[in-house]
Amino acid sequence: MFNKKSLAVLFIILMLTTIFTNSAIAQETPVVHSQPIVIQGAMDIEMQDMVAALKNPKEITYGGWTFWQGTIDKQPVVISRTEVGVTNAAAATLLAIEKFNPKAIINQGTSGGHDPELHRFDIVLGQKSINFGKFKSEHADLGAGINPEAWIPEDVSLRVGGKSEYFNGFAGDPELIKVAQSVIDSYKQGNVVTGVIGTADEWNRELDRIAWVHENFSTSVEEMETASAAQVAAAYNVPFLGIRILSNSEPQGEDWDPKAGTYCQEYVLEVVKALDQTYLN
Ligand code: 5AD
Repeated sequence: MFNKKSLAVLFIILMLTTIFTNSAIAQETPVVHSQPIVIQGAMDIEMQDMVAALKNPKEITYGGWTFWQGTIDKQPVVISRTEVGVTNAAAATLLAIEKFNPKAIINQGTSGGHDPELHRFDIVLGQKSINFGKFKSEHADLGAGINPEAWIPEDVSLRVGGKSEYFNGFAGDPELIKVAQSVIDSYKQGNVVTGVIGTADEWNRELDRIAWVHENFSTSVEEMETASAAQVAAAYNVPFLGIRILSNSEPQGEDWDPKAGTYCQEYVLEVVKALDQTYLN
């Protein structure tokens, strides 16, 4: 039916088809990028310097939350503006994980001092972050008054691996803490310590209240996002670290200073540069 010549032509056509199909497949296969580090800040003063440090920044917004993708020292980085408070922080963290598949998340920014030893511009690496805004109270009759000191702190719950568990705070990733500690000497505006970051939708200025939270939750500082972001990261098993600078300290009588936002970003950029390839890849 086929002579030698038509068989040879058929063979060549088959070969060419195979080559073209394979090269088309090769072109369609997405380039595999290494996973990014996500760095979160609630307000512009807490993340805009890091956006400025990005090479080839690309801005993308989902709902009310904006992200900037780029690189720092060839490392893929996503800067996230979480907006203020625990709900915003949880939403931004969930988006960050689902959209960018990060290798690790750093939540950083300003905070208020609880530990009377700490001063404005000192930095706390979160060995643990804890939600200090979850309480229940015993019954009291109408007219009996309000007694916050008697309120009973409650752990937060989270379903992990199909099982609902209770968490008395979330540990910072030990590897990330080590890397952050390795660049402490680069920070000249204050001390860098490890401690407990307390999170709630509260800005406390009553010294007795601050002392009570410090005593009952061992908080070094208070702010409004870290433990909430850590909770979502824990559900996905994404390594997480909170890094918080004191922008104010009521116990020290030190007022809020926006320069803290810049100082913290400078330090966090050093941390990002120190995250070597073995950690990132
Ligand atoms: N108490 C609560 N939040 C604070 N922040 C800075 N200082 C404090 C403080 N003393 C941060 C929060 C929030 C924004 C209002 O500033 O994390 O994002």
